[in-house]
Amino acid sequence: MVQNLSKVVAQDQKFLNIINGRQVPALSQETITVLCPSDGLAFTSIPASRAEDVDHAVRAARAAFDNGLWSRMAAVERGRLLTKLGHLIEQNSEELAALESRDTGKPIRQGRADVAAAMRYYEFYGGAADKIHGDTIPFNEGYTALTLREPHGVVAGIIPWNYPMQIMARVVGAALAMGNTLVIKPAEDASLSTIRIGELAIEAGFPDGVLNIVTGYGRDAGAALSAHAGVDYLTFTGSPATGTAIQQAAATNNRGVTMELGGKSPQIVFADADIEKALPVLVNAIIQNGGQTCSAGSRVLIERSIYNDVAGALADRFAKLVAGPHDSDLDLGAMINPAQKRRVEAYVSAATEAGIELVARGTIAGDAPATGYYVSPVLFGSVDPSAVIAQEEVFGPVLSLFSFNDENDAIRLANGTEYGLVAGVWTRDGARQHRVAKRVRAGQVYINAYGAGGGIELPFGGFKKSGHGREKGFEALYDMSATKTIVFRHD
Ligand code: NAI
Ligand code: MG
Repeated sequence: MVQNLSKVVAQDQKFLNIINGRQVPALSQETITVLCPSDGLAFTSIPASRAEDVDHAVRAARAAFDNGLWSRMAAVERGRLLTKLGHLIEQNSEELAALESRDTGKPIRQGRADVAAAMRYYEFYGGAADKIHGDTIPFNEGYTALTLREPHGVVAGIIPWNYPMQIMARVVGAALAMGNTLVIKPAEDASLSTIRIGELAIEAGFPDGVLNIVTGYGRDAGAALSAHAGVDYLTFTGSPATGTAIQQAAATNNRGVTMELGGKSPQIVFADADIEKALPVLVNAIIQNGGQTCSAGSRVLIERSIYNDVAGALADRFAKLVAGPHDSDLDLGAMINPAQKRRVEAYVSAATEAGIELVARGTIAGDAPATGYYVSPVLFGSVDPSAVIAQEEVFGPVLSLFSFNDENDAIRLANGTEYGLVAGVWTRDGARQHRVAKRVRAGQVYINAYGAGGGIELPFGGFKKSGHGREKGFEALYDMSATKTIVFRHD
């Protein structure tokens, strides 16, 4: 156990880029100060990389791909290295949890959950590396046709700040299992766990240049990476606006992309649902990670006959929620940065000014530093489906309640935003479970549940503005590779 979470970074500890198996600062020597969201205080720094650093990293990844050490290594050996990295993460789990928690402000138990999920990704993709098969295809007489799954080459992964360790793991696991090499650009607000895991990858013995890490601002390092002609495929998780910018940059080189762009995910509660089972799940789906979760359940749609009961029970729970420092391990931590705090508060005040009913509000712990970026949780009731708060991703602890008349009305409301990432359906009626699951436009639908502890094995991704391509599970291995068809003539 790390006894003092604020001691997780040693005085002389340096966080550097990892390029071609070596730890290096930005060529300009410039750095970005790292602040802890719980108190707003600086505690270390990361490289402020620019196009020249990105270019070095892409060249290293290209050389590592072209020398074939990785892409032509037996798949089982690639898998063993990924599994070994998972074991090293497990051995360093308390340090990594404390680091993630201090860097992002998330409660320490969430940091621990993130380490456990990251470890599972390396285990899963380590085991999957030699289990992806091509096909043989019935073709004309005198021919044999078959397919191979080949790596794209150099993959770029641009990672957000909300679950850096988990999102890095799903990208690294799938991309490296298929024989690609990688350049990872973590978010400027949360790069520390990515760098530490890069160091553990050196320890695990990955060949040089297979996994490169360059930190820096999106507008510098991120933009340079997305536009680099040496990148063969890109994967991004983050905001739709940045997703558009990255796709436009990738289009200048006609490269493929996987985009995971968030959501406005609904949970539909029918009158016959097990409400006691649903309540804690409904709350957790928006409070976990302070609501800074792409799959946050930010809309709850309630059948009219039980609306008052469910809204009342949720209000009781919301009033008891407390935000506070990561090491106090309360219901939620601080927002990632001052801009995110202001953004969430602006949504709340605009909704209140528009006359939307604020049903309940949690609190901020009395001992939480005034310099931290805290927002207390908010529950809005009887929200008009066309309201801004009903349509836009807030990315904070703000839940909106709606009422519906019947199944068709519920599906219309559930599908009535630009997003389509995840949905929850609460009902005991088996036929309805199937009908609604099929008609809701979302990449994942949960019945009498929501989310699934990382969901490593479960394909994940969006419809509509939530993005395209799929991560997690075996599906990600298809996105991280391209089919090659080979035809033999033997007549
Ligand atoms: P962002 O989407 O801009 O940042 C995510 C990543 O993209 C970071 O690594 C960033 O450095 C990089 N990036 C930024 N601009 C770039 C560019 N022009 N080219 C290449 N890479 C670039 O998100 P940001 O600004 O941190 O947060 C703004 C809003 O985005 C949040 O309030 C939230 O609504 C949403 N968001 C959604 C996430 C999700 O998981 N769906 C994750 C993070 C943010
Ligand atoms: Mg940070």
